[in-house]
Amino acid sequence: MEKKLPVEYELLKKDGKARAGVITTPHGKIETPVFMPVGTQATVKSMTPEELEEMGAEIILGNTYHLYLRPTDELVAKFGGLHKFMNWKHPILTDSGGFQVFSLGDLRKIKEEGVHFRSHIDGSKHFISPEKSINIQNNLGSDIVMLFDECPPGLSSREYLIPSIERTTRWARRCVEAHKRPNEQGLFAIVQGGIYEDLRDKSYNELKEMDEYFSGYAVGGLAVGEPREDMYRILDYIVEKLPSNKPRYLMGVGEPVDMLEAVESGIDMMDCVQPTRIGRHGTVFTKYGRLVIKNASYAEDDRPLDEGCQCYVCRNYTRGYIRHLFKTEEILGARLATYHNLYFLLKLMKDARKAILEDRFIEYKEEFLKNYSMGKS
Ligand code: GUN
Ligand code: ZN
Repeated sequence: MEKKLPVEYELLKKDGKARAGVITTPHGKIETPVFMPVGTQATVKSMTPEELEEMGAEIILGNTYHLYLRPTDELVAKFGGLHKFMNWKHPILTDSGGFQVFSLGDLRKIKEEGVHFRSHIDGSKHFISPEKSINIQNNLGSDIVMLFDECPPGLSSREYLIPSIERTTRWARRCVEAHKRPNEQGLFAIVQGGIYEDLRDKSYNELKEMDEYFSGYAVGGLAVGEPREDMYRILDYIVEKLPSNKPRYLMGVGEPVDMLEAVESGIDMMDCVQPTRIGRHGTVFTKYGRLVIKNASYAEDDRPLDEGCQCYVCRNYTRGYIRHLFKTEEILGARLATYHNLYFLLKLMKDARKAILEDRFIEYKEEFLKNYSMGKS
């Protein structure tokens, strides 16, 4: 009898390769496919947990790297963990710091034992190893813990990728060994391999040897500079090979078109800072593509941000008002745009789920793409 993992997946329905399912975690269930808002610093920027619940968020992300630096994972542990610290009662996934540390460029050095880096805040010296990353995530108490991996640039050569994959596999073993709370926190492995099918196979085949310890698999190293077509091709190739009884998570993708492609390939979970980042700078998603709210053409526009949207913002505010808030640098503008953008991606995935359950995912996707590329807002 296999031992029970703390995070489980139930497949409800397939439509082509697209899947509708339910993930069960220690802090509740998640209906998939799902978009996960990013709360890097123990907050989804400017949104309260009540607002996140209201817009339909079921799981959010936290970041090992940022929370380790500030306020430190030890401090979060003193507050009883990340859920209590930030007052979020539902599931949390923490990224391992792999991606964030590697994004530091010259500020970091990769060694077999781990990564030496300087803080982006004050230049102080730090070291994160696989053991340290897991220890930090154990202190944070997230429901889903990501393995400490290396995320190489999108167009890395085979010569770079092969030793990198092998090191990520060795790090995976160390992460599994270091995990102190295997009954409360599920581990997700991260498949790397750049844009090469055989290297994706290599990475997955190596990780698969530890499958009994993994609650799920992520596809990493995508949307990091490679052409879209390469990302779609790799997703189409590798996702269906991953175990069908575990969730599949595509890291760092939050462009609506890419999200639907990913779902079509069999991806269940996605996250991205994009909706919050572009939102607070005044760009919003609409059914007909992106809209830059500061444009003069919206000054007298009394329509909602997106005419088809039923979110709190679209039910109550006009483009003209929100444009005014951005022009006067009122913080409510950033909050309203953030709320709408998150709602938009959450709803995109909820509608995708419904379409899968009703065997019409491709029709749903094509209809969305047709409108989204019209740009008539
Ligand atoms: N976020 C986006 N891509 C990646 C990745 O490849 N690894 C990790 N750890 N986080 C990511
Ligand atoms: Zn809206």
